[in-house]
Amino acid sequence: MVCRLYLVLIFSCVHLIFLSSQQKTRFVYNDGFDQADLYVDGIARILPDGLLQLTYATKLQMGHAFFKQPFDYGPSSLLSFYTHFVCALVPPKLGADGGHGIAFVVSPSTDLSYAEQAQFLGVFSNETSSSSSSSSHLLAIELDSVYSVGVDKLENPHVGIDVYSPKSIESALPSYFSNVLGKNESINLLSGEPIQVWVDYDGSFLNVSLAPLEVQKPNLPLMSTAINLSEIFQEKMYVGFSAATAKLTSNQYILGWSFSRSKEQLQTLDLSKLPQAPPVPREEKQKKQVPLVFIVLVILLVVLVLMVLGGAYWYRRNKYAEVREPWEKEYGPHRFSYKSLYKATNGFCKDGRVGKGGFGEVYKGTAPKQAYRCEKTVT
Ligand SMILES: *[C@@H]1O[C@H](CO)[C@@H](O)[C@H](O)[C@H]1NC(C)=O
Ligand SMILES: *[C@@H]1O[C@H](CO)[C@@H](O)[C@H](O)[C@H]1NC(C)=O
Ligand SMILES: *[C@@H]1O[C@H](CO)[C@@H](O)[C@H](O)[C@H]1NC(C)=O
Ligand SMILES: *[C@@H]1O[C@H](CO)[C@@H](O)[C@H](O)[C@H]1NC(C)=O
Repeated sequence: MVCRLYLVLIFSCVHLIFLSSQQKTRFVYNDGFDQADLYVDGIARILPDGLLQLTYATKLQMGHAFFKQPFDYGPSSLLSFYTHFVCALVPPKLGADGGHGIAFVVSPSTDLSYAEQAQFLGVFSNETSSSSSSSSHLLAIELDSVYSVGVDKLENPHVGIDVYSPKSIESALPSYFSNVLGKNESINLLSGEPIQVWVDYDGSFLNVSLAPLEVQKPNLPLMSTAINLSEIFQEKMYVGFSAATAKLTSNQYILGWSFSRSKEQLQTLDLSKLPQAPPVPREEKQKKQVPLVFIVLVILLVVLVLMVLGGAYWYRRNKYAEVREPWEKEYGPHRFSYKSLYKATNGFCKDGRVGKGGFGEVYKGTAPKQAYRCEKTVT
């Protein structure tokens, strides 16, 4: 009995030691980054609701956030890592362009102050590829919402794997393999909706997968690249995020993040607990202004048309107004409109001309049958 108890105690102790040593090989941030062990710089900040905001609507800026403790990638350790994070790229207006992008970064240093914004995503600089400093030992998985001439192969928002340089070694249009539908579905990077990203590296293959929040991890990755990172990784490597703005800006967020050295140890992100990124602002002002101008124009047009029609009616009425004389009341309507006289005399045809009197010319005409059967002379 006592022996058993000892065994249980020893087992728990071993388990505890095992757990504490695990602290450095994995972590998870499900419900905000307020308590997170992060090194944050640039315009990046942790918002009161726990969101990690990397950039906001300020041009040509960058923001970084790194897990404070580096991971050991010494010669004897296995070169692997597995990460799952949720990000959101929120452009200034719905359907508008935003910039510039977010990258998951593995770097030998948390100091990326040498880096540039825009197409360099706050990770690289114009000099990065030529220098032999720590900056050349960089791996970045970019979600780039802008096409940069001379840097990007794809002319649209894209996902790319960058080693040393912002020129991706492989890039793809954002999409995911739907396990349910059995086909690829595209993703709009700038929808402002949360996007899940998985980066898996087992020492020989680097896989990148994307999916909307409500979708499970795709069975097939978006990109799968054979790569040996032993030359790139130094003994201590930091993991984190970088984002940049250019002339175009976006609010770029990380909502949740799980990281592990091994596949089995990767903790699941509880997506229901994640803080929510503010939605894309809708253009309410514009939407209300445009119809108002339109409505006023339509009203003006209607009023104008009514005035023209009214004027024409009034003009015609006056022009053809006939004078009613008192005797007419007594003898009933013996009047004919000019129109019916015109019709009756076949347009005052010469054949119908009877003669010329003191009041004018006299024509013979036939009034419509329903009205009068007799012949009338008209003046
Ligand atoms: C990069 O540097 C080269 C020369 O070092 C310069 O000509 C070029 O304009 C620079 N590009 C950017 C984007 O800064
Ligand atoms: C990468 O994807 C390929 C193809 O689906 C798969 O065979 C491989 O196991 C994956 N590797 C990792 C590290 O997830
Ligand atoms: C889906 O996309 C992946 C990666 O881009 C590609 O390898 C695969 O052939 C596509 N599958 C289908 C069914 O289009
Ligand atoms: C990666 O490259 C290093 C040396 O460059 C080599 O020792 C190692 O075996 C390679 N790893 C794989 C998985 O090929």
